[in-house]
Amino acid sequence: MSEETLSNLLKEDRRFEPPAALAEHANVTAEAYDHAAKDREGFWAEQAQRLTWDTPFEQVLDWSNPPFAKWFVGGRINAAYNCVDRHVEEGRGDKVAIHFVGEPLEPETSGTRSITYAELKDLVSQAANALTDLGVGTGDRVAIYMPMIPEAVVAMLACARIGAPHTVVFGGFSSDALASRLEDCQAKVVVTADGGYRRGAPSALKPAVDEARTKTDVVEKVLVVRRTGQDLGADGWDDAVDVWWHDAVDAASTEHTPEAFDAEHPLYVMYTSGTTGKPKGILHTTGGYLTGAAYTHWAVFDLKADTDVYWCTADIGWVTGHSYIVYGPLANGVTQVLYEGTPDSPERGRWWKIIEEYGVTIFYTAPTAIRSFMKQGREIPDARDLSSLRVLGSVGEPINPEAYVWYREVIGGGNAPVVDTWWQTETGAIMISPLPGVTSGKPGSAMNPIPGVSADVVDENGQSVPDGSGGYLVVTDPWPSMLRTIWGDDERFKETYWSRFAKEGFYFAGDGAKKDEDGDLWVLGRVDDVMNVSGHRLSTTEIESALVSHPKVAEAAVVGAKDADTGQAVCAFVILRDDAGDGGDDIVAELRKHVRKEIGPIATPRQVMVVPELPKTRSGKIMRRLLRDVAENREVGDVTTLADSSVMDLISSGMSTGKDD
Ligand code: PRX
Repeated sequence: MSEETLSNLLKEDRRFEPPAALAEHANVTAEAYDHAAKDREGFWAEQAQRLTWDTPFEQVLDWSNPPFAKWFVGGRINAAYNCVDRHVEEGRGDKVAIHFVGEPLEPETSGTRSITYAELKDLVSQAANALTDLGVGTGDRVAIYMPMIPEAVVAMLACARIGAPHTVVFGGFSSDALASRLEDCQAKVVVTADGGYRRGAPSALKPAVDEARTKTDVVEKVLVVRRTGQDLGADGWDDAVDVWWHDAVDAASTEHTPEAFDAEHPLYVMYTSGTTGKPKGILHTTGGYLTGAAYTHWAVFDLKADTDVYWCTADIGWVTGHSYIVYGPLANGVTQVLYEGTPDSPERGRWWKIIEEYGVTIFYTAPTAIRSFMKQGREIPDARDLSSLRVLGSVGEPINPEAYVWYREVIGGGNAPVVDTWWQTETGAIMISPLPGVTSGKPGSAMNPIPGVSADVVDENGQSVPDGSGGYLVVTDPWPSMLRTIWGDDERFKETYWSRFAKEGFYFAGDGAKKDEDGDLWVLGRVDDVMNVSGHRLSTTEIESALVSHPKVAEAAVVGAKDADTGQAVCAFVILRDDAGDGGDDIVAELRKHVRKEIGPIATPRQVMVVPELPKTRSGKIMRRLLRDVAENREVGDVTTLADSSVMDLISSGMSTGKDD
């Protein structure tokens, strides 16, 4: 982010006080910060009591071998029991856990229904029995590649119930991306569906699993939910491998005794982009993660589990769906909405219709969505009664002040505080956020670390920067929901997160941030080669490798350029192989399609520029900063460290040939 944007941001002086009525009954008051700071471990031990432990823990934190943490040592617990069974045992079996809203409006296809906690317990037990019958044992990995349907949640909880770590792969990822994740975590079983409804039509999933299976042979069984009933094709079913969910799960017993696992038993692996081409499998374990998810969901959203109706619009394929659809909300026993489709299907304003119909009180979404609604105009949400909303959340990327204020005024009617929550796949749970009953919000600022979390902004040398300055965002003490390692790669875990400020023992988040004059935090975005497109993390290197895997491409460089809708957009510069000539008329479309196929639609470049050269330092490192200048149409910056500074002229002249589609 440029200095100019920075100073504009910091000139933002609007303040929004917590509504008095909310503050009066808020779950968390200002004392919580001091209380937690005095005895951080004691504070987290208290929060762990939100859960039901089979065996109590003996030690809160074992940090004797950093950065490998153990939380709640000696404790034994079952995550699914905590998310489902205990609510039934405590007399809340008839309470709705999930109001599922299918995308189609037609009753024959929508599948819209409400599932109580008692029903959820039966479904999860049946799925747990079915997975066991398919040969899944404790510690085996199960991949989940599903649309946003209740069975996805059921599958995750069934895995947790039997101690089989799940890895949910976003349904928008390609078969290649799926295959590499299956291979990396050696998933024995895949749970999928024939397809899901998106933008008014069935969108197939099963064929991608079939294709992935041609690239890896780790998968033994595929459990398939029939959602759309679409034709699977002549070769679309393999009796030796494929099993229908309605055969295996519906027939299974609803009796299943959850086994308690060690607090550090792996709960799931979530792949996320890093600075290299290979996605990292972020490992989360059970007791600490669930404590973090449950506490933050209760504290940051001021959750009143008896009366609130909660809705998080994330996909379960991302960490937000894990922590704030499945584990946090269900551990807290809420009633929530789960919506299958897109916001504009069958017409714009579908989200607002859902909020009105279900009386949603807490709503959690992403800035990119808010910006797209702003563009459509306020008459669309204004046509609905959104007065039930009392807390609004934002996640995934910095929220620009205009979007924040629009969200607050138009969606929240000026009464609902906006909590801008900063966290990451790695942190497992919200780390920096206003508290709705305590903090006076500033549009664009994530404000302060929540009670129990300590974070800071430091300079190159790990020294805390003074108020009014910027630097690197670090977490200075371990926290319960922290990642435990990168699956199968302890070295990369140490190197990526803990080496930059090793002396200080800080976790380096990869983000830049600024402290304002009041010491409040403004997260500015990544300082590494990771892009954030519509709140989704993409690695420049991953897209570059996809591009060079195309036979016509010799070299590629990818940068994230500022984009009014998606925050950042993928811009690719490619050099073609000599024998490819000028690549042909469709080269740009061809390369965009190729990336889409290799990774998935979210990685599709906004622009592909065919260039004769790339700017490099003498040591051969591509100078992405200069490419970003070009992609953002800025005056090209300092080129003195370039091996050949005429390259930038070449690139600029190449661009004028209009290779961008
Ligand atoms: O750059 C930050 C940005 O998203 C990154 C984490 O991405 P991911 O692991 O995919 O998790 C997204 C959902 C938690 C961060 O390193 N980010 C996330 N939330 C915010 C944010 N940037 C600014 N403000 C936020 N509230």
